[in-house]
Amino acid sequence: MRHTSAIKFCLLFVIFSAVAVLAADDSVRYLSAQHLFVLDAGNVTYVVGVNERGELQHVYWGARLWRDEDLQPAHSDPGWASFDLTTMTTPQEYPGWGAGLSMEPSLKVTFPDGNRDLVLHYVSHLIKKDGLEITLKDIERPLFVHLQYTVYPGTGVIGRQATIENRAATPAFLESAQAAAWYLPLGDGYRLRYLTGRWGGEWQLNQEPIHTGLKVLESRRGSTSHQTNPWFAIDQDGNNDPESGPTWFGALAWSGSWRISVEQTPHLQVRVTGGYNPFDFSYKLSPGESLATPVFFAGYTGHGIGEASRLMHRFERAEILPAGSGLRTRPILYNSWEATEFNVDEAGQEALADKAASLGVERFVMDDGWFGQRNDDHAGLGDWSVNPHKFPHGLKPLIDHVKSLGMDFGLWVEPEMVNPDSDLYRKHPDWAMHFEGRPRSEGRNQLILNLARDDVKEYTFQWLDKLLSENDIAFLKWDYNRNFSEPGWPEAPADEQKEIWVRYTQNLYQILDRLREKHPQLEIESCSGGGGRVDLGILRRAEQVWTSDDTEAFDRLTIQDGFSYAYTPHIMMAWVTDVPNMNGRSVPLKYRFMVAMQGSLGIGANLNQWKPEDFEEAGTMIRYYKTIRNTVQNGRLYKLAAPENSNFAANEYVSEDGSQAVLFGFLHSQQFGRELPLLPLRGLDERAAYEIYPVEGKDSKAVELSGAYLMHHGLALALQGDYDAISLRLERTDRPPQK
Ligand code: GLA
Repeated sequence: MRHTSAIKFCLLFVIFSAVAVLAADDSVRYLSAQHLFVLDAGNVTYVVGVNERGELQHVYWGARLWRDEDLQPAHSDPGWASFDLTTMTTPQEYPGWGAGLSMEPSLKVTFPDGNRDLVLHYVSHLIKKDGLEITLKDIERPLFVHLQYTVYPGTGVIGRQATIENRAATPAFLESAQAAAWYLPLGDGYRLRYLTGRWGGEWQLNQEPIHTGLKVLESRRGSTSHQTNPWFAIDQDGNNDPESGPTWFGALAWSGSWRISVEQTPHLQVRVTGGYNPFDFSYKLSPGESLATPVFFAGYTGHGIGEASRLMHRFERAEILPAGSGLRTRPILYNSWEATEFNVDEAGQEALADKAASLGVERFVMDDGWFGQRNDDHAGLGDWSVNPHKFPHGLKPLIDHVKSLGMDFGLWVEPEMVNPDSDLYRKHPDWAMHFEGRPRSEGRNQLILNLARDDVKEYTFQWLDKLLSENDIAFLKWDYNRNFSEPGWPEAPADEQKEIWVRYTQNLYQILDRLREKHPQLEIESCSGGGGRVDLGILRRAEQVWTSDDTEAFDRLTIQDGFSYAYTPHIMMAWVTDVPNMNGRSVPLKYRFMVAMQGSLGIGANLNQWKPEDFEEAGTMIRYYKTIRNTVQNGRLYKLAAPENSNFAANEYVSEDGSQAVLFGFLHSQQFGRELPLLPLRGLDERAAYEIYPVEGKDSKAVELSGAYLMHHGLALALQGDYDAISLRLERTDRPPQK
């Protein structure tokens, strides 16, 4: 009997491996009869083809198709095309601006002779292990575009990037260089979701029907920006079920000025184009030079915005975050900013570290104020030597103390900035971004160093490298507190000065990459006056991000809800801070913890002012968080009730292996003694049983309920009054014993 099952198992295994090998081999293929390229990624199929004129056309993007025979060759011209130049109507995969194109071009070029007509035709292709490269060329000039496609079978996400290459003997001036144009199925009635905000109020979700015309999402600020984030999702307008319906989504990997344009043509073709922001853009491609665009990642699901977000979360953890960090969990950190602001010194920080360690905190981070003449935000940025009055023996005694408490040490830096009141600025005023002879606008009393200059880049790398080599620093909070103004670069030739928009960010990435390579243990948090620099480009170089300077827990519910449409809770730093906070609001400590425990937990309170009962409550919460953090940070998020829609909010997280689920519920203000409706959970196994534990410890008595009951009947949450909160931990009873 056993013998037979073993044979069956072996046979199955052989069949499965054969299928797996076939699928892997077949994930990217060229169908020569139809002149089509097919990319299969997870549950997604993406098809492009070359039409009879040699233009590369979009053919299909959506749920997985299984039969190549079904696929039709690329678009030929529709009958009415002669009224409406053909290139306006056919879905060109990467249109150059030429031949009468009236839609958003992917590439716009001016040649030195004044010619601005660019018509790109297919030249060749190369099938790779994890993708495809298709090369296009102008019909007359040696201007080439290499389109790179990378497929990620685990999530169905596809990455697209264009590299523009000038093989002529004269330069070409790029005026718009986009990564990709993505096409949705021809039709009407789509809805766009996107995220906007401002300082202290990032991550607001917007939703609106897509109408004929052009909607521009962008940053012209030199960085990702608080104002709009480079993420979009599109589904059917009017669909109220977050867990069903076709949904297309994507995000740009770029931390400089960017643009995503969402366009519906009069022929009801919806397309999304994204890449460098063409505003004030010019890039000189000298003979033999190339420019790569940012990567534009996009995906599809048939299971609504909920699944679209979960796919993004998984994709970010598996494919974007630095070296495996998405598979680990984040340490609980303490940050001194809200407790001490600029008023840091050795004794004060050590006292806070003692208290943080007693709570079970794992990383102690000293924020602003430790260097130069940095006593407030008017001076010191640029002078990155330890202030001798605050730290007479350098940072070592504090770091040793923190480490003796079992925590590692992190430090705040803002390397791209300079205060005019600093030794660095007095020595190198030309290093700050400026136009010659024009005023320099300050933001938070500071100017931006022109990182596009290689000497500034080198200087910045050197002092950071020295700081990290001389001190045992595990973590940097890398801040960036203002946006570009007067983006001049007078030292560069006039026709190259606008390259500052690209070269600044390229050099920033180089500094980060070099530092990470030289200091492989280093972890980084990307901060920009809160959540102003969160995108898939910086996330290749940062383990986590600062979500918002607004740490007020009720506001944070909405901020975190918006954030987690696009980005994984794994990277979403959420601190418990003191009250009254923003809006003059004071909510209970329990509520503040429950909100913060939905991301990567930090403590930012002034522990010197905490009472013994606060420490006790916080200790319980932190112990609880350690039992659930893997599920919160690396699991599947189900948004059960959004804070924007009612006075109740709830989120559920299910671990990837399904063995644990965690529920958080929040009541804003109860009225009329009304009880909350039953809350059906999601993502459980109907036939499994779950033991349900409250926060207060492993030993408290558990209730046991089936997945079916929890999902179809739902739970009655005992929430009452104002700002009440609850968290429950569900353990699947048949889970394998924990090692
Ligand atoms: C920014 C950050 C804060 C803090 C201050 C320090 O505002 O977002 O968290 O680090 O700078 O000056």
